[in-house]
Amino acid sequence: MSVINQHNLAIFRQSLQRVSASTEFFDCFYNSFITQSDEIGEFFKNRDMKQLKKKLRETLFMLAETAEGRPGLTLYIEMLGRVHLRLKVKRKHFVMWEEALLEAVKRYDKEFDDKVLAAWLEVIDNVIETMFRALDETKQMAS
Ligand code: HEM
Repeated sequence: MSVINQHNLAIFRQSLQRVSASTEFFDCFYNSFITQSDEIGEFFKNRDMKQLKKKLRETLFMLAETAEGRPGLTLYIEMLGRVHLRLKVKRKHFVMWEEALLEAVKRYDKEFDDKVLAAWLEVIDNVIETMFRALDETKQMAS
């Protein structure tokens, strides 16, 4: 993980606390993401959604509580990259994922504005890049 702007991290943390006060936020996010196309729906067939919602929640809080790019966090995000590679999730799916998540934030954060949007974008873009960087390195090692 590269170091995230401290101001944005604070805004992200506060917004995350507001939206995750109820489990509805995660229900809403996965419902709209999964039902947006059959292609996306396929990924989530026969999954333990309760567990997945819990893991996503924990991951977001882990990001919010990390002041600087902690090595442990980077390793965890890189591992998540490999999990998603095995699931055959492509970059375009991450774009859809991020859009659906931000829609849910917009809906559940009563203080949503451009600053909140910019903070979430910085954090999530950073996560996605870290996930993909790990995959590029894996490919290089294989060749
Ligand atoms: C930055 C974006 C994403 C984050 C932070 C994220 C987060 C997570 C986490 C924390 C898990 C649980 C891993 C574990 O079992 O330890 C997971 C699993 C999973 N994710 Fe993602 N995810 C992202 C993007 C996506 C996308 C784009 C898709 C599909 C289109 C997807 C589909 C799945 C599926 C199918 C599982 C497996 C559930 C299972 O093993 O039962 N994820 N994700």
